[in-house]
Amino acid sequence: MTTKLSVNINKIATLRNSRGGNNPNVLQAAIDCQLFGADGITVHPRPDERHIRYSDVREIMPIITTEFNIEGNPLEDKFVQLVLDVKPHQVTLVPDALNQLTSNHGWDTIKEAKYLRDIVAVFKTAGIRVSIFIDPVVAFAQAAADTGADRVELYTESYAQHYINDRTTAIKEYVLAAEAAVVRGLGLNAGHDLDRNNLNFFAKNITQLQEVSIGHALIADALYYGLENSIQLYKRALSVY
Ligand code: PXP
Repeated sequence: MTTKLSVNINKIATLRNSRGGNNPNVLQAAIDCQLFGADGITVHPRPDERHIRYSDVREIMPIITTEFNIEGNPLEDKFVQLVLDVKPHQVTLVPDALNQLTSNHGWDTIKEAKYLRDIVAVFKTAGIRVSIFIDPVVAFAQAAADTGADRVELYTESYAQHYINDRTTAIKEYVLAAEAAVVRGLGLNAGHDLDRNNLNFFAKNITQLQEVSIGHALIADALYYGLENSIQLYKRALSVY
């Protein structure tokens, strides 16, 4: 299976916001990422709009020729409304706290079963594919299927952290969680701290992986290699086994 690369452009917005103007131009960056080979664009608007702004999200959707993925916490009504207005191809539900630096855990799909079922239904009724961000725990993958979601996104921070010392052990719980999800009919996405070095081994071992969303490392690599080369390097990591 070819895994799609969705480029998270939040970091480009962070750079723009640091000067207050429109350089770099986030919309142009989204267009160019697609030209350079990205299979999708991801944004993660946070309530304080410190990276991507809600207005960016609305402006990006019409220029998307690949797949648009919006990540965020549906506890914010403003987020739910944004997603329903924009109607992206996919919404990824993430339980991040209001001022959290970056996502640091997935849903407890057992404890939050009722809440997730209700909110998943809201997005599904609007025709939007729903993915739920989870830690690589078999029971969470199993319970995610009962929420009516289409996919899970495996939170890969612990994989990335342990990859350097022992990648064989690091991947084990992901293989098990991925199997549990797929057996129950869920599609598989992954993201967080994936990079040029650890991506290939992950994709090779999680054979049903449909999509990765990558921001920080890819944009950091673009400083050295340029955006087009970086996207191509990540695409190659996903396709060469
Ligand atoms: N997936 C989710 C749910 C995230 O919150 C993030 C970070 O915003 C990513 C993927 C991408 O992580 P990274 O920037 O480390 O590639």
